[in-house]
Amino acid sequence: MQLLRTRLICAINPPSTAGVGALYICLCNAITDTDIAQAVEQGAARPCEVYTACGCRAQCGSCARKIVTMLRSLMPAEPDLVAACD
Ligand code: FES
Repeated sequence: MQLLRTRLICAINPPSTAGVGALYICLCNAITDTDIAQAVEQGAARPCEVYTACGCRAQCGSCARKIVTMLRSLMPAEPDLVAACD
């Protein structure tokens, strides 16, 4: 069902409206991976800060885990953790 919904939204909102290759992460608010990357660049570090940066609020909340995963991959590593790897 979720895949069908995702495909339907992508068909209704082609990538040209959100940027080439953008992937919708939050279907309720039409937040894309590009939107999340921009929010991180503006200092967002938690899902609620991503929603705020995108001018919306969490609706169903089913995207929160995906946003957290993206935040972890996009945010710079902690200096101490980097140092520990050297
Ligand atoms: S999918 Fe993001 S709030 Fe519902």
